[in-house]
Amino acid sequence: MPERSASRVTTLDQLKAATMACRECPIGYIATQSVVGEGKPKPRLMLVGEQPGDQEDLAGKPFVGPAGKLLDRALQAADIPRDQVFVTNAVKHFKFELRGKRRIHKSPAQREIAACHHWLEDEIALVRPGALVALGASAARSLLGRATPVLANRGQWLPRPDGMQVLVTLHPSALLRVDPEDREAAFEAFVADLRQAQRLFAR
Ligand code: URA
Repeated sequence: MPERSASRVTTLDQLKAATMACRECPIGYIATQSVVGEGKPKPRLMLVGEQPGDQEDLAGKPFVGPAGKLLDRALQAADIPRDQVFVTNAVKHFKFELRGKRRIHKSPAQREIAACHHWLEDEIALVRPGALVALGASAARSLLGRATPVLANRGQWLPRPDGMQVLVTLHPSALLRVDPEDREAAFEAFVADLRQAQRLFAR
């Protein structure tokens, strides 16, 4: 495995360049490009997903595919304008396996989440959000430094050692896999978690 890059980045452009060159885990060798976050600097909330998907890998932007569309709908329902938050991922490259010509999402391994963790922390330090929202288990693990079961912890604020609060909720892709008859209730519960995240600032 190549050496870990030593320098700390001081802008999001530098983060993009540094993650483009990153080969600290094997995913960097297969992805088209790295995808770093985008949105408002110093936002109330920074939403952290798992890793870019197929469309994000091609576009170079987070949450622009099917999961992103669902996230946009949920943010709108929770009265959270997407341009008022910052949206990113725990892992900066797209991990997939080829089935024919299709690139099928593969969840990142724990060691890959760990290898990317310092880039996420650099991003948090640059963006300076008021609080963090972990979308799914990979993000929760990276942000909290330990396995955090999503269903047992969803909708709750969990503190990090640096004092930042993390609200854990489902990954929007999980909602895409819910049985059609349960989908509306699952969507409403997801929106309720996002509203809960917003409320931290209304106290
Ligand atoms: N899933 C994620 O976790 N992040 C994206 O950017 C897209 C899909």
